[in-house]
Amino acid sequence: MNSPTLSVRIARKVTEATDILSFELVDAGGAPLPSFSAGAHIDVHLPNGIVRQYSLCNDPGECHRYLIAVLRDPASRGGSTAMHDRVHEGDVLQISAPKNHFPLVHEARRSLLLAGGIGVTPILCMAERLALSGAEFDMHYCTRAPERTAFLNRIRLSAFAPRVHLHFDDGPSDQRFDLAATLAGPQPGVHLYVCGPKGFMDAVLASARAQGWPEHQLHYEFFAAEVQTSATDTAFEVRLASSGRTIAVGAGQTVTAALAAAGVDVPTSCEQGVCGTCLTRVLAGEPEHRDAYLTPEEQAANDQFLPCCSRARSPLLVLDM
Ligand code: FES
Repeated sequence: MNSPTLSVRIARKVTEATDILSFELVDAGGAPLPSFSAGAHIDVHLPNGIVRQYSLCNDPGECHRYLIAVLRDPASRGGSTAMHDRVHEGDVLQISAPKNHFPLVHEARRSLLLAGGIGVTPILCMAERLALSGAEFDMHYCTRAPERTAFLNRIRLSAFAPRVHLHFDDGPSDQRFDLAATLAGPQPGVHLYVCGPKGFMDAVLASARAQGWPEHQLHYEFFAAEVQTSATDTAFEVRLASSGRTIAVGAGQTVTAALAAAGVDVPTSCEQGVCGTCLTRVLAGEPEHRDAYLTPEEQAANDQFLPCCSRARSPLLVLDM
């Protein structure tokens, strides 16, 4: 069952940079919106019937509005195109209440915030929050070019502007992002947050792990990930612990699709293993994790998996449902 939604009106739709629009959402009835914390996102129900997650990028102290930003993605599966072309000022949309799978660790001694492109949205919200609380942090924001850099003016006019290091791919070499130097010498109490395109995040996380950053000091949120499928994928079965019912999952079928075909509804959203909506406990059997949501340690524990994309190494998985 999906959670109840809120009706919001698009109060403003603004071009923030090439191919990036921001949308200011206010409660359709004029009431205050539920509060949120830095790193939170909302599910937005789009006019074409699909649901997409967008991080909130306004000051988390605000409750009169939510601000999201959307990059027009040439490889869009319908989300960014619908937001750009079919959502207009004055429209009313349904959204979820904010959820946070990417929270700040408030007891951190220092925070290192890394944003790649549109991944700036949750990172900017974190910078606002950390600046407000007087916390120690640095933010690195990597984009292709200034005209493709959303919220540049907002950052330059902010109180935390001196803490933000901008890196443009088309800029002089002395301002390029030096990943290895930025991540050198991990320290206890220093937490790293990264959000951006998959290639950027993979590079950051690989470098951090290679330099010895402990997993609990790494925090990340993927926007989208390609769901891996393989010609060698095989069929398996899932058993519902509550009823004992066993359902076959075909070689070319996801677990959520097999369950839906059997009349068992698992809430889903991204269907790419990035949002965590479909997270399900595994009571027996060995999952084959294909998500970008669980940490390597959580995956290794094999007691939960994301059935929208992950499969099974064992012939049977017993699910806590
Ligand atoms: S629906 Fe998003 S992780 Fe499964």
